[in-house]
Amino acid sequence: MIASLLAVIDPGDEVIVFEPFYENYGADTVLSRAVPSYVVLDPADDFRLDPERLRAAVTPRTRGIIVNSPNNPTGKVLSAEELGVIRDLCVEHDLVAFTDEIYEHIVYDGAEHVPLATLDGMAERTCTVSALSKTFSVTGWRVGWVVAPPP
Ligand SMILES: Cc1ncc(COP(=O)(O)O)c(C=O)c1O
Repeated sequence: MIASLLAVIDPGDEVIVFEPFYENYGADTVLSRAVPSYVVLDPADDFRLDPERLRAAVTPRTRGIIVNSPNNPTGKVLSAEELGVIRDLCVEHDLVAFTDEIYEHIVYDGAEHVPLATLDGMAERTCTVSALSKTFSVTGWRVGWVVAPPP
């Protein structure tokens, strides 16, 4: 995550982060000199993404959005509708999505993980981050990857 943020973000750019979030995104945004803009997902509403709250977080300085689904710590898997809201926002405001999909193969109860990069117009604006540790129970190996368009 930090590598892709450093590659794309200029100091002072704003990056939207859904809250609650995996704690490293705090350090990742600070180290890349991004300004985090937090969008709270309401636990009382099953952490549903509120499109209006998300839109309200976008400013002329917003450059990217961090998306972690399936999510740590909530376990939330974003629905097709929620992914569509994020997709529309990214395309409309020319944002880069940084997706952490490390739990991509760990889904339950009929939930389906859909990579954001597979949505129309997103392959060219998504840095897809994943790793071996969760799927293959090798936490500590720190073997991961980023799939992103070369530019
Ligand atoms: C959402 C998320 N991303 C990334 C990581 C980092 O995983 P690792 O360093 O084991 O590859 C973790 C580990 O807990 C995580 O929960």
